[in-house]
Amino acid sequence: MKKSGADGAEPSSFLLTADRSSAGVRRVVVALIPASIFNIRNLMQNPLASLAHLPNRLPSVAEVLALLRTQGDELAALYAAADDLRRRSVGDDVHVRGIIEFSNDCANDCEYCGIRRGSKVTRYRMTQEEIVAQAVQAHAWGCNTVVLQSGDDLWFTAERLCNIVRGVRQAGVPAVTLSVGVRPLGELRQFAAAGCDRYLLRFETSNRRLFKKIHPDETFARRLRCLKNLREAGIQVGSGFMIGLPDTSLTTLARDILFATRLKLDMIGCGPFLAHPDTPLGGKPLLEDREIYFKAMAVLRLLNPWAHIPATTAFDALAPDGRNRVLQIGANVFMPNVTPGKYRRLYQLYPNKPCVDEDGAACAICVRGRITGLGRRIAEGPGHSLRGNKGN
Ligand code: SAM
Ligand code: FES
Repeated sequence: MKKSGADGAEPSSFLLTADRSSAGVRRVVVALIPASIFNIRNLMQNPLASLAHLPNRLPSVAEVLALLRTQGDELAALYAAADDLRRRSVGDDVHVRGIIEFSNDCANDCEYCGIRRGSKVTRYRMTQEEIVAQAVQAHAWGCNTVVLQSGDDLWFTAERLCNIVRGVRQAGVPAVTLSVGVRPLGELRQFAAAGCDRYLLRFETSNRRLFKKIHPDETFARRLRCLKNLREAGIQVGSGFMIGLPDTSLTTLARDILFATRLKLDMIGCGPFLAHPDTPLGGKPLLEDREIYFKAMAVLRLLNPWAHIPATTAFDALAPDGRNRVLQIGANVFMPNVTPGKYRRLYQLYPNKPCVDEDGAACAICVRGRITGLGRRIAEGPGHSLRGNKGN
């Protein structure tokens, strides 16, 4: 039913309010109010406007750029709006997803990555038994999802990966995410049948020319097809991009944010690009304005109320409290590294990767403290997609 706003005017955007009834299932009432959006001044002037996002259209690149250029009081309002929307849409719960980096072998030579084919790093592969045992341990530490990530390691055939996923699920871990690169639809279907709930595959950049340059073994079209195939296989889709890749501008970032939004992802995982010295992109500096990384996350939340958004590890390499800050401007997922300590130094995608000297237990305890210290709760349950059929 089409509703008019409080003053009877034709609605132009949504007001989101959380309703925590019905057996813990968070329902959201969408009431329509008249408000102009994508304008930070409106967010500041109208106390309701901080709730009034997502109109019936996506913002233009220029509107996203305006949000990314906010400063001072306006920036504070932008962050407050993103945090407010996060609380009202996905709530105060933080989903804890333990990541096990189970192989650093990689067939690809992506120009940014510390474990690329050409890297001289010592290679390792965890055994199926090791992976399942570590997943069980991660669950005992409070991770209801285990994320199994590797380089594009084709030694791990679909059959081997299915055995691992099955083993992890049968051992009582509520949910499994795979992040193993582009795989054909047939394999994705096998993963789903084995109990894989979600998949993480970043598109890295929406700039086709840049994608081609930094991915000598990949095509953008193939990656997008894989994201589409994941849906067809019934797997929840996570994707995203690196912020601040070399030779990109603020306009590239605005386009990446809009591209991610158009994909209607269940999970949006983004983080700063951090140059690894032993790669072709080594030596490329961070963005001069460090705040851009955080602004991008806030804008992503404003445009994607229902997506799970992790505070990714790379934010801690940017600033010691990086992940905490991201949790306070829209993120609702934390992914502690639960890879066994002896492998961590060998999975350095970028320098200064945090927690390489810790073990999984230390990370799990640290995460608990960080989340509760921010006044947030650790989520119970598997933390599946909240998008459902909300159509946004
Ligand atoms: N092989 C799988 C894939 O390509 O999807 C998963 C592993 S891959 C190493 C995981 C992610 O690490 C990539 O999607 C990329 O965005 C990120 N990454 C790699 N090198 C990075 C760097 N130098 N700075 C920031 N993120 C990086
Ligand atoms: Fe391994 Fe890119 S270097 S997937």
